[in-house]
Amino acid sequence: MLLLYCAALFGLGYAAQEVMQAESNPDDGFRVCRSSHSPDHSVRIRRQDESICAAGSPQYTGWLDIGSRHLFFWYFEGPNDLVNDPLTLWMTGGPGGSSMIGLIGNGTYHNPWGWSRNPSLLFVDQPVDVGFSYVDKGYNIPHDSQEAAVDMHRFLQLFISEVFPHHLDTPVHLSGESFAGKYIPYLGTQIVLQNKLYPNQPQIQLKSCLVGNGFMSPKDSYFGYWATLCTTNFGVAEPVFNQTRCDIIAANMPRCQEVMDTCVRNPDPAVCAAASAVCYKGVVGWYEDESGKGGRNRFDITAPCEIDNICYIEAARIEQYLNSPRVWNALSPPKQVKKYKIDSDAVARAFGTTSDTMTSASDLVAFLLENQVHYLAYQGNLDLACNTAGNLRWADSLRWKGQAEFTSKPLQPWKSVLAATGVNETVGKMKAIQVRVSGHADTPSRFAIVNVDDSGHFLPQNRPDVALDIMTRWITGAAFV
Ligand SMILES: *[C@@H]1O[C@H](CO)[C@@H](O)[C@H](O)[C@H]1NC(C)=O
Ligand SMILES: *[C@@H]1O[C@H](CO)[C@@H](O)[C@H](O)[C@H]1NC(C)=O
Ligand SMILES: *[C@@H]1O[C@H](CO)[C@@H](O)[C@H](O)[C@H]1NC(C)=O
Repeated sequence: MLLLYCAALFGLGYAAQEVMQAESNPDDGFRVCRSSHSPDHSVRIRRQDESICAAGSPQYTGWLDIGSRHLFFWYFEGPNDLVNDPLTLWMTGGPGGSSMIGLIGNGTYHNPWGWSRNPSLLFVDQPVDVGFSYVDKGYNIPHDSQEAAVDMHRFLQLFISEVFPHHLDTPVHLSGESFAGKYIPYLGTQIVLQNKLYPNQPQIQLKSCLVGNGFMSPKDSYFGYWATLCTTNFGVAEPVFNQTRCDIIAANMPRCQEVMDTCVRNPDPAVCAAASAVCYKGVVGWYEDESGKGGRNRFDITAPCEIDNICYIEAARIEQYLNSPRVWNALSPPKQVKKYKIDSDAVARAFGTTSDTMTSASDLVAFLLENQVHYLAYQGNLDLACNTAGNLRWADSLRWKGQAEFTSKPLQPWKSVLAATGVNETVGKMKAIQVRVSGHADTPSRFAIVNVDDSGHFLPQNRPDVALDIMTRWITGAAFV
């Protein structure tokens, strides 16, 4: 294999691709670059053509090695201004879910509403052991969102400074769904803190976070179970549960909230495990115990559950596709990767030994807003797991300078031009504010929630045109009303 310094290889957008092709390695087609700064960082990267993913833009796959940890990425270069157009990172939740769920969604034909159309888009399987990512034998995988964030910060730093240095000054946005409601505030905070602590290291120009059906606050998500299952507020003709069940859940809610409060304030794993058990028995379990293949779907209260865990048959198809010889041949995973799996049990187990899946990311989101990093929560209204009722409550209760203004604002209709009809239609409700956090802040911090009808947990799959519209308007800073 050729060893070269990354910056020399990928120095300039399209010109670099010529270099790569001219020097492609006949053994496996990978470029291998060592970091010019630290010897245990390197990247193995190869260009992909359109044959396994019809994206319509230049794309690269590979592994970024951070010592014993090896993170798989799939990177799509935007069509326009490579230096100034934003770079958006996508992380799927879990913990343990592969980001390829967000990438491939419902098929590998060209998706006209694929997000890669506008900014450069980077999908990473993280933490290590998720999807195509792996860790060397004998080393631990991360146990919580903070450990995961340390790796992802290093990843982004190397990616923008050494792999694609034309991105050094590119505005960066962090996006994802579900448990990424934890990953993203932790990663964002790590970026802001590291930028301040080490001003001479590559600085990630973090602009905003956008999270679909995020699990920012489990306590609020549990509270939202009642409104989601016992009212018609979120787009069902009849409440999902009858009065008997709704009464039981309502009666159990105060205790669930009380013990979750204790866990959030005192996040000992044993305390949080006990809180979680109380909420499961009293609130969550009434639905969850009837979920799974052929039963209820926690990601959409109106949809059937086709397969266990993720409920959607598409997940099984993605797994099958990514394990096909054609894809395997194109990606060339190293021998340490035995098989692609859509979720990692090991990561779920590791996180399960800590309180991370129970605690709240509120303080971190407030910290980001105070540092002029914008935050958007967008919601599919039919989701139960990370429901709209809970995240509205969470957004209202977020303690920061904008809280009073945000809380006193009513929801307004949100319109989007639908791809199918070309009609500018109300597709949900939103509220958004802009607050200058201090006299020194050069830009106001934006905080918004958009709640979309007729969609479950996976908005980019359920309503791709609306999801693209939300993302584009948010990232470009366009008006949101
Ligand atoms: C996935 O695609 C198939 C066929 O292209 C379509 O019938 C199905 O409704 C899609 N599923 C979702 C969740 O969008
Ligand atoms: C309420 O719903 C549960 C679960 O579907 C059912 O077992 C129960 O019989 C229902 N109760 C009434 C009074 O309809
Ligand atoms: C859709 O309608 C809203 C409100 O009437 C308007 O502000 C917005 O500009 C329209 N969008 C487009 C693309 O026409």
